[in-house]
Amino acid sequence: MRILVVGSGGREHALVWAIAGSPLATDIYCAPGNAGIAEDAICVDIAATDVPALVRFAVKERIDLVVIGPEAALEAGLADALAAESVLAFGPSKAAAAIETSKGYMKDLCARVGVPTADYRRFTDADKAAAYVRERGAPIVVKADGLAAGKGVVVAETVEEALAAVDACMRDAAFGAAGAEVVIEEFMAGEEVSFFALVDGEDALPFASAQDHKRAFDGDQGPNTGGMGAYSPAPAMTPALEQQVLTEIIEPIVAAMKADGRPFKGVLFAGLMLTADGPKVVEFNARFGDPEAQSILTRLRSDFLTALVVAAEGGLKHFDLRWRDETAMTVVMATNGYPGPYGAGSLIRGVADAEALPGVTVFHAGTRQSTEAGAYEAAGGRVLAVTALGETVREARDRAYAGVAAIDWPDGFCRTDIGWRALD
Ligand code: AMP
Ligand code: GLY
Repeated sequence: MRILVVGSGGREHALVWAIAGSPLATDIYCAPGNAGIAEDAICVDIAATDVPALVRFAVKERIDLVVIGPEAALEAGLADALAAESVLAFGPSKAAAAIETSKGYMKDLCARVGVPTADYRRFTDADKAAAYVRERGAPIVVKADGLAAGKGVVVAETVEEALAAVDACMRDAAFGAAGAEVVIEEFMAGEEVSFFALVDGEDALPFASAQDHKRAFDGDQGPNTGGMGAYSPAPAMTPALEQQVLTEIIEPIVAAMKADGRPFKGVLFAGLMLTADGPKVVEFNARFGDPEAQSILTRLRSDFLTALVVAAEGGLKHFDLRWRDETAMTVVMATNGYPGPYGAGSLIRGVADAEALPGVTVFHAGTRQSTEAGAYEAAGGRVLAVTALGETVREARDRAYAGVAAIDWPDGFCRTDIGWRALD
């Protein structure tokens, strides 16, 4: 099969890597990719949101399956445009991706089918939003309705902080059109876990659980990021809890979206809060997590490409997956300054030394080729995702950090406490 993976981050490197392990894959392309991906696929210089160019490439190159990595490509309508040309794609339509791209749609859907989530109200008027914040008091959560690169959510400890978030979104347009509407919701206390299911429009197949670390610095301090590390499976996600999440959350959503005329196909990523009243939805995403995918895919024993094709074509009801017993952990190495402003072009050495260590795989998130043999240049905020398998969380952690230690990159940093919750 001829495959095109769309995207350029660590998640897409993991997708390419897992697809490359399939005997069915003959040719793998990635648009636009990065220097690490270029070692496992042919990189094509097309942006992930350049829908016309991606469709032209897929048709011309007779691509059998397009695997869409980032949400921006889903929101740009890539899956719809490919379907119009009869190109098979893994990833939901623009209308179905609204479960991620519109928090208002997601909340209304949950309310309609009785899926547990935080109480909420939607606002397009800043004065009414502010009045509601004052009425409810703190802690309270303010969310821009649309995609805001993970920065559109403020968990406010005080009313003043919540009012400032409303102003930033609605009066100062900090997130442009994505913040013209806000969702204000109840604060939920508990432990967060992520759960992923493959969905073919009708049926959901449980995929894996994971936990990630969104804050930039140790001790879950500092600004929010795309994710500084992850591990899978999440020990908090017991088999009984997984069954509950499947029947009370995932399956009702999949059925309602089908009934709505926007069937979801692809991977449904549920961000959950394990509250005293049971699991509740924090958010849904319409794609694999980054860096969750890097951890999850190293654990998969079954043929990943076959699973993607079955999800895209239909038939998950009769499909099953096998996993390794090990835990996987991913430590993200980022350029100093991330998630604020950072430079590019610093030299990274020792990636091959890290990969030679037991259980270690290094996925590239933002690298480009260097003129020095065996070295790379940093070309992004998140740059490497050092991933390791181990018999226990502790072994996976020790191996991942041994990989980090083997990498010589003075301009990079990472958190030193990934997995702390699972170790305590
Ligand atoms: P989201 O982009 O909706 O996932 O929100 C980003 C982060 O904000 C989540 O991972 C949670 O840690 C936190 N968060 C969002 N909504 C709530 C809520 N209702 N209660 C508590 N924390 C929340
Ligand atoms: N790591 C969180 C995400 O991919 O949204």
